[in-house]
Amino acid sequence: MSAAFAHRHLLAIEGMGPDDIDLLLDAAETHVEVNRGEVKKGASLRGRTVINLFFENSTRTRTSFELAGKRLGADVINMSVATSSVKKGETLIDTAMTLNAMHVDVLVVRHPESGAVHLLSEKVNCSVINGGDGTHEHPTQALLDALAIRRRKGRLGGLSVAICGDVAHSRVARSNIHLLNIMGARVRVVAPPTLLPANIDRMGVEVFHDMARGLAGCDIVMMLRLQTERMQGALVPSTREYFHFFGLDRDKLAVAQPDALVMHPGPMNRGIEIDSVIADDIDRSLIREQVEMGVAVRMACLEALVEHRQTLRND
Ligand code: NCD
Repeated sequence: MSAAFAHRHLLAIEGMGPDDIDLLLDAAETHVEVNRGEVKKGASLRGRTVINLFFENSTRTRTSFELAGKRLGADVINMSVATSSVKKGETLIDTAMTLNAMHVDVLVVRHPESGAVHLLSEKVNCSVINGGDGTHEHPTQALLDALAIRRRKGRLGGLSVAICGDVAHSRVARSNIHLLNIMGARVRVVAPPTLLPANIDRMGVEVFHDMARGLAGCDIVMMLRLQTERMQGALVPSTREYFHFFGLDRDKLAVAQPDALVMHPGPMNRGIEIDSVIADDIDRSLIREQVEMGVAVRMACLEALVEHRQTLRND
């Protein structure tokens, strides 16, 4: 695969082309079947070192990258770093320099500050994957969402996708908006004004403040977690009222296409942004597949970056 993937890092979806995205999704597709088989271990990354450097809590993303690296035969090490807010900048660069001296091949970094992963990528020799930086981007989540959609709908172009809920604090929303626009889907955001970032209309989306209008006729309903840990002050009156107006249940979903699919990046707040009946409906919910596709997509990303490094070395 992917002598054509010509990027040293994977930091953001913004700025990628449709060819880059297709390339990664096609490569990920080849890993899906292997991951479903009994023997899952390959050797394309044998002898390589991947470090998961997480400055923020994570279960699924970290596990997913860990499995992806191990299934390709890499040595994978997890590092969780608690951030002291005073020394944040210092800690980040110091840690980067330490890891750099250990000849790591790929660093997967999650950090609570937007832009921190980009900053770190400028200080190291290895490839860096953004595992989520603040409210900025979470590129592998958008890629795995795209793969899950593509496998079920056969395409991305022309689909109408409603991204609903706490868009303001969501790096998942931002990466998805970029990816879906690049691939020719139509994107709507549906949220109360307090949960939308300023200038959201400049991101090439249609804005709605109520679910009935925002979900009408759409093919995909992507729900977001209410990210209270990132909020300064109360942006919603109460979680009960939030569920009443913006929580996805059967009634609200009824106005979407009859075959509309429901997504959520996890972790879910059941009964706040999504009703369990919808989340667990195997005919409508893509949530389990999103997790499954995560491993395949991260395998493709790790391979693409390592192969690109190899081509640079050989030149
Ligand atoms: C998301 C994240 O961390 O940005 N989760 C994830 O990666 N699966 C979304 C969230 O935390 O709500």
